[in-house]
Amino acid sequence: MTDRLPSRQDELAVRRARLEEGGGGDRVARQHAAGKLTARERLSELLDPGTFVELDRFVTHRAAAFGMDKVEAPADGVVTGYGAIEARLVYVFSQDFTVLGGSLGEGHAAKICKLMDLALRNGAPVIGLNDSGGARIQEGVVSLGGYAEIFLRNTLASGVVPQISAIMGPCAGGAVYSPAITDFTVMVRGTSYMFVTGPQVVKAVMHEDVTSEDLGGAEVHAARSGVAHFIADHDLDALRLIRRLVAYLPQNNQEGPPRVPCADPPDRMDPALDAVVPEDPHRPYDMREVIRRVVDGGEFLEVHERFAQNLLTGFARLDGRSVGIVAQQPEALAGALDINSSVKGARFVRFCDAFNIPLVTFVDVPGFMPGTGQEHGGIIRHGAKLLFAYCEATVPKLAVITRKAYGGAYDVMSSKHIRGDLNLAWPTAEIAVMGPEGAIDIIFRRELAEAGDPEGTRARLVAEYRRQFANPYVAAGRGYLDDIIEPRETRPRLISALRMLEGKRDRNPPKKHGNIPL
Ligand code: HXC
Repeated sequence: MTDRLPSRQDELAVRRARLEEGGGGDRVARQHAAGKLTARERLSELLDPGTFVELDRFVTHRAAAFGMDKVEAPADGVVTGYGAIEARLVYVFSQDFTVLGGSLGEGHAAKICKLMDLALRNGAPVIGLNDSGGARIQEGVVSLGGYAEIFLRNTLASGVVPQISAIMGPCAGGAVYSPAITDFTVMVRGTSYMFVTGPQVVKAVMHEDVTSEDLGGAEVHAARSGVAHFIADHDLDALRLIRRLVAYLPQNNQEGPPRVPCADPPDRMDPALDAVVPEDPHRPYDMREVIRRVVDGGEFLEVHERFAQNLLTGFARLDGRSVGIVAQQPEALAGALDINSSVKGARFVRFCDAFNIPLVTFVDVPGFMPGTGQEHGGIIRHGAKLLFAYCEATVPKLAVITRKAYGGAYDVMSSKHIRGDLNLAWPTAEIAVMGPEGAIDIIFRRELAEAGDPEGTRARLVAEYRRQFANPYVAAGRGYLDDIIEPRETRPRLISALRMLEGKRDRNPPKKHGNIPL
């Protein structure tokens, strides 16, 4: 027995070493030449050093067709296991493109499913590093079934544990729908792409010439389709970004987000905020600047930074507590709500609500975007998504109206009427059914037509409207605003409100689920 043990151990060591090599030296070299890390290199960069524990490393395929009985597939093309990010548990899978192109067969899918089941039972995030040629052609319908099993688990885990996808190579066909269901998708510039049908099919069916990059590269999905929430310059950048993102999130929907020590004083006032809003109500200013001046250390991790830039969404901290920020950006489309920004905001609000992250909303909205493009594109049902999301959210909801809050958009943006917990306004706030110019043209149309001096009359009426309606005092007089504050006081007031709301208990009526207007 004593002399058999070492040889068994040697065998284990040899087998393990073989698995570590993935698809072998040439394919690894090709992976590196393409500017990509290998599946295992990615895991060691993503996780705290030495924390990764691999599961199912000996799983391999059982296919026989097309000579598969002679094909070795180390780890069946996907490395799965668990580890830590900043000492907190995460479950991870990393597809190995050097093994059969990272294609997904029965064993590969079963490994991912086992991991997701563990994550769901134990309440920790799932991070998927995708680099795959899609369904393994040699395994046919079994591969398709494997994908469906993953989609089901993505759906069941949605709102229970955070799910993050990095696209670090190809992700094509139905395979895109797993990342699409997860909470956040990171794409790597230049080396990743996602599309339902590739350039050849586009050419055959639509007679259109398009490259993979132009059809579904990182730029396209970050800026135009909104499929990607984050864009990274290279693999390392993507993995660091995921580490940053995870730090804002709770482990699951039963926990609050982590609280970190905060060096930025909670009572810090910022006099520069007093001068941010321009005198001229039509002039833009940078809402990012406002956010940075308010949050801990000026750190704001923007989600969907390049998509629908008229609405900013992202994570920050106030006195060490994670918050989800939603804010109009007056520098883009004057901050008007359109289809894309409504959908962007709704998804972000629902994520924060599902994971107990308080919402802080900065409002400067002239209204919904007008035009046939928007109306025919369905701004009614898309705008309703954002309204629905804010209405159903039960996390602490804080709002600061910095300038305009006009029309239906006033109601939508975390207003008191839809269970806003603390609604503040700066003295520059204007809250009314519509802007002064539009309002005067409607309610005084006859007077203006009959006036000897229409321009002078108009200016006088606009000034009068401004005095009466375009201010925060009417709303505050009704209790729709809890207070009107100096802009410099914003940080301490928000932090005090978050403390006050720490024990918030609010529930929606029992139901199977709502019917958000999709
Ligand atoms: C089996 C695959 C594979 C696949 C790639 N490989 N895709 N093996 N099934 N789906 C293998 C190749 O045979 C090759 O093996 C190795 O992976 C690397 O592939 P290359 O073609 O040499 O690499 P590259 O030139 O970089 O091209 C990568 C690629 C291309 C663009 C991904 O391989 C490709 O187009 N693959 C097919 C993509 C696809 O149509 N998949 C099905 C999508 S539909 P060797 O041994 O030479 O290294 C889908 C449905 C999901 O996924 C179902 C959900 C409902």
